[in-house]
Amino acid sequence: MLSKLVLAVTLGFAAVNAQSTFQFKETYPVPFEIPQPKQEWLSLISNATISDAPIIQQVDGTLQQPQDVTGDPNCVWTFTECLGPDDLYTCPQKIWGHTFDDGPSEFTPKLLDYLDSVNKKVTFFVVGGQVIQYPETLKRAYDAGHEIAMHTWSHNYMTTLTNEQLVAELKWTELAVKEVTGVSPRFIRPPFGNIDNRVRDICKALGFVPVIWSVDTNDWYLNEQSGSFQPAWINGNVTEWASTNTTTGGISLAHDLYNVTVDAAIEYMPGLIDAFELQTVGQCNKQQAYKEGAGNVNDTSSTQPNGPASSSGSAPESTVSVQNESSATRVLATGMIGFALAGAAAFLTA
Ligand SMILES: *[C@@H]1O[C@H](CO)[C@@H](O)[C@H](O)[C@H]1NC(C)=O
Ligand SMILES: *[C@@H]1O[C@H](CO)[C@@H](O)[C@H](O)[C@H]1NC(C)=O
Ligand SMILES: *[C@@H]1O[C@H](CO)[C@@H](O)[C@H](O)[C@H]1NC(C)=O
Ligand SMILES: *[C@@H]1O[C@H](CO)[C@@H](O)[C@H](O)[C@H]1NC(C)=O
Ligand SMILES: *[C@@H]1O[C@H](CO)[C@@H](O)[C@H](O)[C@H]1NC(C)=O
Ligand SMILES: *[C@@H]1O[C@H](CO)[C@@H](O)[C@H](O)[C@H]1NC(C)=O
Ligand SMILES: [Zn+2]
Repeated sequence: MLSKLVLAVTLGFAAVNAQSTFQFKETYPVPFEIPQPKQEWLSLISNATISDAPIIQQVDGTLQQPQDVTGDPNCVWTFTECLGPDDLYTCPQKIWGHTFDDGPSEFTPKLLDYLDSVNKKVTFFVVGGQVIQYPETLKRAYDAGHEIAMHTWSHNYMTTLTNEQLVAELKWTELAVKEVTGVSPRFIRPPFGNIDNRVRDICKALGFVPVIWSVDTNDWYLNEQSGSFQPAWINGNVTEWASTNTTTGGISLAHDLYNVTVDAAIEYMPGLIDAFELQTVGQCNKQQAYKEGAGNVNDTSSTQPNGPASSSGSAPESTVSVQNESSATRVLATGMIGFALAGAAAFLTA
Protein backbone atom coordinates (compact mmCIF):
# COMPACT_ATOMS: atom_id res chain seq x y z
CA MET A 1 0.00 0.00 0.00
CA LEU A 2 2.76 2.39 0.81
CA SER A 3 5.05 1.30 -1.95
CA LYS A 4 6.31 4.11 -4.11
CA LEU A 5 4.18 3.25 -7.07
CA VAL A 6 0.92 3.26 -5.29
CA LEU A 7 1.47 6.42 -3.38
CA ALA A 8 -0.78 9.28 -4.05
CA VAL A 9 0.15 12.46 -2.37
CA THR A 10 -2.08 15.33 -1.79
CA LEU A 11 -0.31 18.57 -1.52
CA GLY A 12 -2.46 21.38 -0.47
CA PHE A 13 -1.01 24.58 -1.74
CA ALA A 14 -2.88 27.60 -0.61
CA ALA A 15 -2.43 30.55 -2.87
CA VAL A 16 -3.16 33.04 -0.20
CA ASN A 17 -1.54 36.34 0.42
CA ALA A 18 1.28 35.77 2.84
CA GLN A 19 1.49 39.47 3.61
CA SER A 20 4.92 39.88 2.21
CA THR A 21 6.37 43.32 1.76
CA PHE A 22 9.15 42.09 -0.52
CA GLN A 23 9.20 44.06 -3.76
CA PHE A 24 9.75 41.75 -6.72
CA LYS A 25 10.96 43.42 -9.89
CA GLU A 26 9.43 40.78 -12.12
CA THR A 27 5.77 40.19 -12.68
CA TYR A 28 5.43 36.48 -12.03
CA PRO A 29 3.00 33.90 -13.38
CA VAL A 30 0.05 32.83 -11.25
CA PRO A 31 1.25 30.46 -8.53
CA PHE A 32 0.77 26.78 -9.44
CA GLU A 33 -0.36 27.44 -12.98
CA ILE A 34 1.85 26.12 -15.76
CA PRO A 35 3.68 29.25 -16.91
CA GLN A 36 4.70 30.44 -20.36
CA PRO A 37 8.40 31.06 -20.93
CA LYS A 38 9.96 34.39 -21.73
CA GLN A 39 10.82 34.28 -25.41
CA GLU A 40 14.54 34.73 -24.79
CA TRP A 41 14.67 31.65 -22.58
CA LEU A 42 13.79 29.36 -25.47
CA SER A 43 17.08 30.04 -27.20
CA LEU A 44 18.81 28.50 -24.18
CA ILE A 45 17.72 25.05 -25.34
CA SER A 46 17.78 25.68 -29.07
CA ASN A 47 21.22 24.09 -29.55
CA ALA A 48 20.76 21.31 -27.03
CA THR A 49 20.26 17.68 -27.92
CA ILE A 50 16.99 16.80 -26.26
CA SER A 51 15.57 13.30 -26.08
CA ASP A 52 12.40 12.84 -28.07
CA ALA A 53 10.81 10.78 -25.31
CA PRO A 54 7.06 11.19 -25.68
CA ILE A 55 5.12 13.47 -23.39
CA ILE A 56 3.47 11.16 -20.86
CA GLN A 57 -0.29 11.36 -20.68
CA GLN A 58 -2.45 11.49 -17.59
CA VAL A 59 -5.90 10.01 -17.26
CA ASP A 60 -7.82 11.22 -14.24
CA GLY A 61 -4.54 12.31 -12.77
CA THR A 62 -2.88 8.95 -13.25
CA LEU A 63 0.27 8.85 -15.35
CA GLN A 64 -0.06 6.39 -18.20
CA GLN A 65 2.95 4.15 -18.48
CA PRO A 66 3.86 3.86 -22.16
CA GLN A 67 3.33 0.35 -23.51
CA ASP A 68 6.76 0.00 -25.01
CA VAL A 69 9.00 0.26 -22.01
CA THR A 70 11.30 -2.62 -22.79
CA GLY A 71 14.64 -1.60 -21.45
CA ASP A 72 13.09 1.64 -20.19
CA PRO A 73 14.76 3.63 -22.96
CA ASN A 74 13.60 6.96 -21.57
CA CYS A 75 14.63 6.16 -18.00
CA VAL A 76 11.42 7.18 -16.25
CA TRP A 77 12.05 7.15 -12.50
CA THR A 78 8.34 7.06 -11.76
CA PHE A 79 7.86 3.61 -13.24
CA THR A 80 11.22 1.94 -12.75
CA GLU A 81 13.22 4.15 -10.38
CA CYS A 82 15.66 4.55 -13.25
CA LEU A 83 18.36 7.13 -12.48
CA GLY A 84 20.20 9.17 -15.07
CA PRO A 85 24.00 9.49 -14.90
CA ASP A 86 23.83 12.99 -13.42
CA ASP A 87 20.94 12.39 -11.02
CA LEU A 88 21.85 12.79 -7.35
CA TYR A 89 19.94 10.68 -4.84
CA THR A 90 22.09 9.82 -1.86
CA CYS A 91 25.06 10.76 0.32
CA PRO A 92 28.18 8.72 1.12
CA GLN A 93 28.25 6.43 4.13
CA LYS A 94 27.83 8.02 7.55
CA ILE A 95 26.52 11.19 5.92
CA TRP A 96 22.88 12.17 5.58
CA GLY A 97 21.04 14.83 3.63
CA HIS A 98 17.57 15.70 4.85
CA THR A 99 15.43 17.53 2.34
CA PHE A 100 12.17 19.47 2.55
CA ASP A 101 9.95 20.03 -0.47
CA ASP A 102 7.05 22.28 -1.38
CA GLY A 103 7.86 25.30 0.75
CA PRO A 104 8.43 27.88 1.84
CA SER A 105 5.23 27.89 3.86
CA GLU A 106 3.85 29.56 6.94
CA PHE A 107 5.24 26.62 8.93
CA THR A 108 8.80 26.84 7.62
CA PRO A 109 9.89 29.43 10.25
CA LYS A 110 9.12 26.91 13.02
CA LEU A 111 11.40 24.43 11.28
CA LEU A 112 14.10 27.08 10.84
CA ASP A 113 13.92 27.88 14.56
CA TYR A 114 14.54 24.22 15.34
CA LEU A 115 17.40 23.91 12.85
CA ASP A 116 19.00 27.04 14.32
CA SER A 117 18.75 25.51 17.78
CA VAL A 118 20.66 22.39 16.71
CA ASN A 119 22.89 24.24 14.23
CA LYS A 120 22.17 21.83 11.35
CA LYS A 121 21.67 22.58 7.67
CA VAL A 122 19.20 20.99 5.30
CA THR A 123 18.18 21.36 1.68
CA PHE A 124 14.92 23.05 0.69
CA PHE A 125 13.38 22.32 -2.73
CA VAL A 126 11.14 25.32 -3.14
CA VAL A 127 8.09 25.86 -5.33
CA GLY A 128 8.09 29.10 -7.34
CA GLY A 129 4.52 29.91 -6.41
CA GLN A 130 5.45 29.60 -2.72
CA VAL A 131 8.60 31.68 -3.09
CA ILE A 132 6.67 34.72 -4.29
CA GLN A 133 4.32 34.39 -1.33
CA TYR A 134 6.95 33.75 1.35
CA PRO A 135 10.09 35.53 0.16
CA GLU A 136 11.13 36.61 3.66
CA THR A 137 11.07 32.99 4.81
CA LEU A 138 13.16 31.89 1.85
CA LYS A 139 15.67 34.65 2.56
CA ARG A 140 15.87 33.62 6.17
CA ALA A 141 16.55 30.00 5.21
CA TYR A 142 19.25 31.05 2.76
CA ASP A 143 20.86 33.48 5.18
CA ALA A 144 20.92 30.78 7.86
CA GLY A 145 23.09 28.63 5.58
CA HIS A 146 20.51 26.16 4.37
CA GLU A 147 20.76 25.02 0.79
CA ILE A 148 18.10 26.37 -1.56
CA ALA A 149 17.09 24.22 -4.52
CA MET A 150 14.13 24.18 -6.87
CA HIS A 151 10.96 22.18 -7.21
CA THR A 152 9.30 23.83 -10.26
CA TRP A 153 6.70 26.56 -10.54
CA SER A 154 3.42 24.69 -10.84
CA HIS A 155 4.27 21.36 -9.18
CA ASN A 156 2.97 19.36 -12.09
CA TYR A 157 4.42 16.11 -13.39
CA MET A 158 7.34 17.25 -15.48
CA THR A 159 7.07 14.42 -18.01
CA THR A 160 3.58 15.65 -18.94
CA LEU A 161 4.83 19.11 -19.93
CA THR A 162 6.18 20.33 -23.26
CA ASN A 163 9.80 21.40 -23.65
CA GLU A 164 8.69 25.04 -23.65
CA GLN A 165 6.62 24.58 -20.51
CA LEU A 166 9.56 22.90 -18.78
CA VAL A 167 11.81 25.85 -19.62
CA ALA A 168 9.22 28.17 -18.11
CA GLU A 169 8.78 26.05 -14.96
CA LEU A 170 12.52 26.06 -14.33
CA LYS A 171 13.44 29.59 -15.34
CA TRP A 172 10.58 31.36 -13.52
CA THR A 173 11.40 29.48 -10.34
CA GLU A 174 15.09 30.20 -10.72
CA LEU A 175 14.36 33.90 -11.29
CA ALA A 176 12.17 34.15 -8.19
CA VAL A 177 14.81 32.50 -6.01
CA LYS A 178 17.49 34.71 -7.50
CA GLU A 179 15.52 37.89 -6.79
CA VAL A 180 15.13 36.91 -3.15
CA THR A 181 18.50 35.35 -2.38
CA GLY A 182 20.82 36.66 -5.07
CA VAL A 183 21.73 33.13 -6.18
CA SER A 184 20.51 30.70 -8.82
CA PRO A 185 20.06 27.12 -7.61
CA ARG A 186 21.64 24.25 -9.55
CA PHE A 187 19.62 21.48 -7.94
CA ILE A 188 16.11 20.67 -9.08
CA ARG A 189 13.84 17.99 -7.68
CA PRO A 190 11.08 16.90 -10.05
CA PRO A 191 7.72 16.81 -8.27
CA PHE A 192 6.85 13.20 -7.42
CA GLY A 193 10.27 12.19 -8.73
CA ASN A 194 8.67 12.31 -12.17
CA ILE A 195 11.57 12.61 -14.59
CA ASP A 196 12.68 11.05 -17.87
CA ASN A 197 15.52 11.67 -20.31
CA ARG A 198 13.72 14.52 -22.06
CA VAL A 199 13.28 16.37 -18.77
CA ARG A 200 16.88 15.57 -17.83
CA ASP A 201 18.18 16.97 -21.12
CA ILE A 202 16.31 20.23 -20.62
CA CYS A 203 17.53 20.51 -17.04
CA LYS A 204 21.08 19.96 -18.22
CA ALA A 205 20.83 22.49 -21.04
CA LEU A 206 19.69 25.07 -18.50
CA GLY A 207 22.39 24.17 -15.96
CA PHE A 208 20.26 22.22 -13.49
CA VAL A 209 21.05 18.91 -11.80
CA PRO A 210 18.19 16.55 -10.82
CA VAL A 211 17.96 15.31 -7.25
CA ILE A 212 15.82 12.34 -6.23
CA TRP A 213 16.03 10.65 -2.79
CA SER A 214 17.06 7.33 -1.30
CA VAL A 215 14.36 7.07 1.38
CA ASP A 216 11.02 8.69 1.99
CA THR A 217 9.47 9.70 5.32
CA ASN A 218 6.02 9.59 3.69
CA ASP A 219 5.32 12.46 6.07
CA TRP A 220 2.64 14.00 3.84
CA TYR A 221 0.34 11.20 4.93
CA LEU A 222 0.19 12.90 8.31
CA ASN A 223 -1.87 15.63 6.71
CA GLU A 224 -4.40 13.17 5.35
CA GLN A 225 -7.63 12.96 7.24
CA SER A 226 -7.91 9.18 7.12
CA GLY A 227 -5.75 8.79 10.20
CA SER A 228 -4.40 5.52 8.85
CA PHE A 229 -0.82 6.72 8.84
CA GLN A 230 0.82 6.28 12.21
CA PRO A 231 3.22 9.06 13.20
CA ALA A 232 5.37 6.45 14.97
CA TRP A 233 6.17 4.92 11.59
CA ILE A 234 8.44 7.81 10.67
CA ASN A 235 10.38 7.40 13.89
CA GLY A 236 10.49 3.66 13.22
CA ASN A 237 11.94 4.26 9.79
CA VAL A 238 14.46 6.77 11.09
CA THR A 239 15.57 4.22 13.68
CA GLU A 240 16.09 1.67 10.91
CA TRP A 241 18.06 4.14 8.79
CA ALA A 242 20.12 5.12 11.82
CA SER A 243 20.97 1.48 12.55
CA THR A 244 22.85 1.28 9.25
CA ASN A 245 24.89 4.39 9.93
CA THR A 246 28.31 2.75 9.73
CA THR A 247 27.73 1.40 6.24
CA THR A 248 25.24 3.69 4.55
CA GLY A 249 24.29 7.28 4.00
CA GLY A 250 21.21 8.69 2.37
CA ILE A 251 18.95 11.48 1.29
CA SER A 252 15.52 11.56 2.89
CA LEU A 253 12.41 13.25 1.58
CA ALA A 254 10.11 15.34 3.77
CA HIS A 255 7.88 18.41 3.40
CA ASP A 256 7.75 21.80 5.09
CA LEU A 257 4.33 22.61 3.67
CA TYR A 258 2.25 21.38 6.60
CA ASN A 259 2.12 22.05 10.30
CA VAL A 260 2.08 18.33 11.09
CA THR A 261 5.05 17.47 8.88
CA VAL A 262 7.13 20.24 10.42
CA ASP A 263 6.18 19.11 13.92
CA ALA A 264 7.10 15.54 12.97
CA ALA A 265 10.47 16.65 11.60
CA ILE A 266 11.33 18.36 14.85
CA GLU A 267 10.61 15.07 16.58
CA TYR A 268 12.41 12.61 14.28
CA MET A 269 15.39 14.72 13.19
CA PRO A 270 17.37 14.17 16.41
CA GLY A 271 17.51 10.48 15.45
CA LEU A 272 19.16 11.37 12.15
CA ILE A 273 21.46 13.91 13.75
CA ASP A 274 22.67 11.39 16.36
CA ALA A 275 23.39 8.72 13.79
CA PHE A 276 24.78 10.63 10.83
CA GLU A 277 26.72 13.69 9.92
CA LEU A 278 24.00 15.92 8.51
CA GLN A 279 25.02 17.73 5.34
CA THR A 280 23.27 19.41 2.45
CA VAL A 281 22.84 17.63 -0.88
CA GLY A 282 25.56 19.78 -2.43
CA GLN A 283 28.01 19.24 0.41
CA CYS A 284 27.74 15.46 0.50
CA ASN A 285 27.90 15.20 -3.28
CA LYS A 286 30.71 17.74 -3.52
CA GLN A 287 28.85 19.89 -5.99
CA GLN A 288 28.16 23.56 -5.77
CA ALA A 289 24.60 24.42 -4.96
CA TYR A 290 24.39 27.62 -6.97
CA LYS A 291 25.36 28.71 -10.45
CA GLU A 292 27.18 31.65 -8.92
CA GLY A 293 29.29 29.24 -6.94
CA ALA A 294 28.22 30.45 -3.54
CA GLY A 295 28.55 27.86 -0.88
CA ASN A 296 31.78 25.93 -0.47
CA VAL A 297 31.15 22.44 -1.73
CA ASN A 298 34.06 21.06 0.21
CA ASP A 299 33.11 22.67 3.47
CA THR A 300 31.61 19.95 5.58
CA SER A 301 31.29 22.09 8.64
CA SER A 302 27.86 23.21 9.55
CA THR A 303 28.35 26.78 8.51
CA GLN A 304 29.14 27.96 5.04
CA PRO A 305 31.10 31.12 4.47
CA ASN A 306 29.20 32.20 1.42
CA GLY A 307 25.85 31.42 2.75
CA PRO A 308 23.62 28.66 2.25
CA ALA A 309 23.13 25.53 0.57
CA SER A 310 20.02 23.64 0.93
CA SER A 311 16.75 22.68 -0.48
CA SER A 312 13.93 20.48 0.34
CA GLY A 313 12.32 17.54 -1.19
CA SER A 314 9.35 16.72 -3.16
CA ALA A 315 6.81 14.11 -2.91
CA PRO A 316 6.59 10.97 -4.89
CA GLU A 317 3.04 11.10 -5.43
CA SER A 318 0.18 12.43 -6.89
CA THR A 319 -2.41 14.93 -6.23
CA VAL A 320 -1.84 18.58 -5.96
CA SER A 321 -4.70 20.75 -5.09
CA VAL A 322 -4.57 24.44 -5.26
CA GLN A 323 -6.71 27.10 -3.88
CA ASN A 324 -6.81 30.09 -6.12
CA GLU A 325 -7.42 33.63 -5.14
CA SER A 326 -11.13 33.13 -5.02
CA SER A 327 -10.68 30.22 -2.64
CA ALA A 328 -11.80 27.60 -5.07
CA THR A 329 -10.08 24.27 -4.81
CA ARG A 330 -8.65 22.92 -7.96
CA VAL A 331 -6.77 19.79 -8.71
CA LEU A 332 -3.70 20.66 -10.71
CA ALA A 333 -2.11 17.32 -10.92
CA THR A 334 -3.28 14.06 -9.66
CA GLY A 335 -1.28 11.17 -8.70
CA MET A 336 0.15 8.27 -10.28
CA ILE A 337 -1.93 5.39 -9.47
CA GLY A 338 -4.21 7.83 -8.05
CA PHE A 339 -5.97 7.19 -4.97
CA ALA A 340 -8.10 9.89 -3.82
CA LEU A 341 -6.98 12.36 -1.42
CA ALA A 342 -9.08 13.97 1.09
CA GLY A 343 -6.51 16.06 2.81
CA ALA A 344 -6.01 18.89 0.41
CA ALA A 345 -9.39 20.39 0.84
CA ALA A 346 -8.95 20.46 4.58
CA PHE A 347 -5.63 22.21 4.26
CA LEU A 348 -6.93 24.63 1.73
CA THR A 349 -9.85 25.77 3.76
CA ALA A 350 -7.76 25.98 6.90
C1 LIG B 1 23.40 28.22 -30.82
O1 LIG B 1 24.14 28.08 -32.00
C2 LIG B 1 24.22 29.29 -32.75
C3 LIG B 1 24.91 28.97 -34.09
O2 LIG B 1 26.08 28.25 -33.84
C4 LIG B 1 24.96 30.34 -31.95
O3 LIG B 1 25.04 31.54 -32.67
C5 LIG B 1 24.22 30.57 -30.64
O4 LIG B 1 24.96 31.45 -29.83
C6 LIG B 1 24.02 29.27 -29.91
N1 LIG B 1 23.16 29.50 -28.76
C7 LIG B 1 23.47 29.07 -27.55
C8 LIG B 1 22.47 29.37 -26.47
O5 LIG B 1 24.47 28.44 -27.29
C1 LIG C 1 8.19 2.76 7.95
O1 LIG C 1 7.17 3.54 7.36
C2 LIG C 1 6.23 2.77 6.62
C3 LIG C 1 5.24 3.76 6.03
O2 LIG C 1 5.91 4.79 5.37
C4 LIG C 1 5.54 1.79 7.53
O3 LIG C 1 4.69 0.97 6.75
C5 LIG C 1 6.57 0.94 8.23
O4 LIG C 1 5.91 0.12 9.17
C6 LIG C 1 7.56 1.84 8.96
N1 LIG C 1 8.59 1.03 9.60
C7 LIG C 1 8.75 1.01 10.93
C8 LIG C 1 9.84 0.15 11.45
O5 LIG C 1 8.05 1.68 11.69
C1 LIG D 1 0.27 24.08 14.37
O1 LIG D 1 0.36 23.06 15.31
C2 LIG D 1 0.53 23.52 16.64
C3 LIG D 1 0.72 22.31 17.52
O2 LIG D 1 2.00 21.81 17.29
C4 LIG D 1 -0.68 24.32 17.08
O3 LIG D 1 -0.47 24.82 18.38
C5 LIG D 1 -0.88 25.47 16.11
O4 LIG D 1 -2.09 26.14 16.43
C6 LIG D 1 -0.95 24.97 14.69
N1 LIG D 1 -0.98 26.10 13.80
C7 LIG D 1 -1.89 26.22 12.83
C8 LIG D 1 -1.82 27.45 12.00
O5 LIG D 1 -2.73 25.38 12.62
C1 LIG E 1 25.54 5.53 14.72
O1 LIG E 1 24.45 6.02 15.45
C2 LIG E 1 24.58 5.89 16.86
C3 LIG E 1 23.32 6.42 17.48
O2 LIG E 1 22.21 5.89 16.82
C4 LIG E 1 25.77 6.67 17.37
O3 LIG E 1 25.96 6.45 18.75
C5 LIG E 1 27.01 6.24 16.62
O4 LIG E 1 28.07 7.08 16.96
C6 LIG E 1 26.77 6.32 15.13
N1 LIG E 1 27.94 5.81 14.40
C7 LIG E 1 28.55 6.52 13.48
C8 LIG E 1 29.71 5.85 12.78
O5 LIG E 1 28.19 7.65 13.17
C1 LIG F 1 36.46 19.57 -3.66
O1 LIG F 1 37.33 18.53 -3.24
C2 LIG F 1 37.60 17.57 -4.26
C3 LIG F 1 38.41 16.45 -3.64
O2 LIG F 1 39.49 16.96 -2.91
C4 LIG F 1 38.33 18.28 -5.39
O3 LIG F 1 38.61 17.35 -6.43
C5 LIG F 1 37.45 19.39 -5.93
O4 LIG F 1 38.14 20.09 -6.93
C6 LIG F 1 37.04 20.33 -4.83
N1 LIG F 1 36.06 21.26 -5.37
C7 LIG F 1 36.13 22.57 -5.15
C8 LIG F 1 35.08 23.42 -5.80
O5 LIG F 1 36.98 23.07 -4.43
C1 LIG G 1 -10.56 30.64 -9.32
O1 LIG G 1 -11.71 29.91 -9.01
C2 LIG G 1 -12.90 30.50 -9.49
C3 LIG G 1 -14.06 29.71 -8.94
O2 LIG G 1 -13.89 28.35 -9.23
C4 LIG G 1 -12.83 30.52 -11.01
O3 LIG G 1 -14.01 31.12 -11.53
C5 LIG G 1 -11.63 31.33 -11.45
O4 LIG G 1 -11.48 31.25 -12.85
C6 LIG G 1 -10.37 30.77 -10.80
N1 LIG G 1 -9.26 31.65 -11.09
C7 LIG G 1 -8.08 31.18 -11.47
C8 LIG G 1 -7.03 32.19 -11.66
O5 LIG G 1 -7.85 29.99 -11.63
ZN1 LIG H 1 6.47 18.25 -4.04
